[in-house]
Amino acid sequence: MLSFLLSAMMAVQALAVMEVQVPEQPVVALHGMDATLNCSFSHPSLFNLSDLSIFWQLTDTQRSVHEYSQGRDQLEGQAKSFANRTSLFSTQLGLGNASLLLRRVMVADEGSYTCFVRVQDFGSAALFLQVAAPYSKPVVTLESDSNLRPGDELALTCVAYGGYPEPIVIWQDEGRRNLTDNVTTSFVANEEGLFSIVSVLTVVLEPSSTYSCQLINPLLGEEGYASVTITGQNIAFPPVALWVTVGLAVCLLVLLIALAAVCRRKIKESCEEARREAEEAKELEEEESKTAMTPLKS
Ligand SMILES: *[C@@H]1O[C@H](CO)[C@@H](O)[C@H](O)[C@H]1NC(C)=O
Ligand SMILES: *[C@@H]1O[C@H](CO)[C@@H](O)[C@H](O)[C@H]1NC(C)=O
Ligand SMILES: *[C@@H]1O[C@H](CO)[C@@H](O)[C@H](O)[C@H]1NC(C)=O
Ligand SMILES: *[C@@H]1O[C@H](CO)[C@@H](O)[C@H](O)[C@H]1NC(C)=O
Ligand SMILES: *[C@@H]1O[C@H](CO)[C@@H](O)[C@H](O)[C@H]1NC(C)=O
Ligand SMILES: *[C@@H]1O[C@H](CO)[C@@H](O)[C@H](O)[C@H]1NC(C)=O
Repeated sequence: MLSFLLSAMMAVQALAVMEVQVPEQPVVALHGMDATLNCSFSHPSLFNLSDLSIFWQLTDTQRSVHEYSQGRDQLEGQAKSFANRTSLFSTQLGLGNASLLLRRVMVADEGSYTCFVRVQDFGSAALFLQVAAPYSKPVVTLESDSNLRPGDELALTCVAYGGYPEPIVIWQDEGRRNLTDNVTTSFVANEEGLFSIVSVLTVVLEPSSTYSCQLINPLLGEEGYASVTITGQNIAFPPVALWVTVGLAVCLLVLLIALAAVCRRKIKESCEEARREAEEAKELEEEESKTAMTPLKS
């Protein structure tokens, strides 16, 4: 009877004149919460409920989600995964409201649902159900190795769990610049389909720098945010200022020594030159005196 009804509905679908309306935008439902899949139909001003048939099915697999005919629910053919989780709004049926209440939504419920309605005519429409779950607040940890030196590579790990769907993970430095290089993010689904994420950022160690990890759920928007600041306390080395001072001092010293050496050589050279000049002058003088003396001799 049910399968006959379904095939009859399918067959006449092409000739449908009944208007069936569902949301055009995907319906977003929170994991573990109840969701209403809206479906409304045009109907004669007065009709007998025993003439109404409603059939909700999964669009892709055509498995039965919920069925109503002859004035009552007909759940013999219902897919097991929907057992005890579906109902129609009985007081609303006569008003053209064939919406389905789906309780305790699961990740596995995500997909397309078709609402078939028949009173005198047939009509159908499909909607898409998207499931969302917020992530736990992310936690950022840094690998605690006390022998770190500036210039070493350091791994920062951001962890969050229990969310859906896969988030966008954004690492930023204190300048709010997006760091996309050297980031590795992995997602693991648990038996409920909810994801745990582990994102690892590798940075070259600098003291006093802040790194933040932010999660964006594509359906729920911005979620958690966590950051870590690497201070001198994390790292066993003096602050950069000291290194710079020591470095500059060493440079200066080397420069002074070099300068001194050059000066010494220059001084020595000029001294020798002076002495040589003095000697030459003396010799010249002696020669002159010799020459001067010559006439006396001759
Ligand atoms: C269902 O329909 C009602 C009435 O048209 C509307 O207020 C509500 O927002 C709809 N819900 C969804 C999930 O589309
Ligand atoms: C159908 O009825 C339910 C229960 O009153 C309501 O939440 C829902 O918005 C209604 N849907 C439409 C399309 O009117
Ligand atoms: C609705 O239909 C049933 C079965 O055909 C019939 O017994 C009942 O009297 C009808 N009710 C109305 C209000 O027409
Ligand atoms: C549905 O509810 C009935 C009655 O409460 C229970 O016997 C049955 O085990 C439930 N089925 C599922 C799949 O939970
Ligand atoms: C960082 O990435 C996010 C998401 O891709 C984007 O919205 C934001 O504008 C980016 N910020 C910068 C500074 O590039
Ligand atoms: C990424 O890591 C490489 C070495 O593994 C490093 O040379 C490079 O500077 C890093 N990039 C950024 C943006 O930190």
